[in-house]
Amino acid sequence: MTLLVLDAVHRTFRVGTVSVPAIRDVSLVIDAGECVAVMGASGSGKSTLMNMVGLLDRPTSGTIQIDGEDTARLSDDARARLRGGRIGFVFQSYNLLPRSTAVENVELPLIYAGVQPRLRRLRARAALESVGMSMRETHFPSQLSGGEQQRVAIARALVGDPAILLADEPTGALDSRTGSEILALFRKLNRDGQTIVMITHDAAVAAHCARVVQLRDGRIVADMRQAAWRADAA
Ligand SMILES: Nc1ncnc2c1ncn2[C@@H]1O[C@H](COP(=O)(O)OP(=O)(O)OP(=O)(O)O)[C@@H](O)[C@H]1O
Ligand SMILES: [Mg+2]
Repeated sequence: MTLLVLDAVHRTFRVGTVSVPAIRDVSLVIDAGECVAVMGASGSGKSTLMNMVGLLDRPTSGTIQIDGEDTARLSDDARARLRGGRIGFVFQSYNLLPRSTAVENVELPLIYAGVQPRLRRLRARAALESVGMSMRETHFPSQLSGGEQQRVAIARALVGDPAILLADEPTGALDSRTGSEILALFRKLNRDGQTIVMITHDAAVAAHCARVVQLRDGRIVADMRQAAWRADAA
């Protein structure tokens, strides 16, 4: 089932009199259940693309459809609702609230969604369990390791049952062993059906996804399935 369709997407930033073409004519179809790594050097447009897919930014031209819905036609409110309900974000820097416990951090999206407190707590606990963090429910972020904080952030991204999990350099701040554990968690989530779009500049990280899309100067220059990717890297 097709989940995400980008059709001839351009994003140009205007800085004074200069225009910076960050994404140029990107077309991409992603099915439900895929794990797609978007790879490219610094400045290639990865975050710009991710912000548009995550409905945080709009294309200068071209269309983005999520679940058959043309997101350009939606009001800001409707886009915010779609973002809250259908997209989970994971960032390099975890972005947890320092004065809230692990379980309170995970509950946050459900508060915005208007879920009742008791159900909220149940769902947050289930999400923490799914990332192996049941034992750390009442810890504050400062009492957690980087890898544990990222697991809590992943639980927060998953708690609303998003159609797409979007991750921007999710292992960028972690040592390689902890990073591998987080990537193993992503693989497990994907095996269980979670659609994942992961951004990275690191080929070893990208290799954890069955599909790798490569950006250069804002354009897609390669779109490979894992077998081809491995052969290519060898
Ligand atoms: N808000 C902005 N205003 C002006 N130019 C921007 C803006 N955001 C991004 N750019 C430019 O667009 C291009 C792509 O930036 P982007 O942040 O998407 O790259 P990236 O691939 O995520 O890089 P990195 O790996 O360093 O995070 C860069 O040339 C950048 O300078
Ligand atoms: Mg970036």
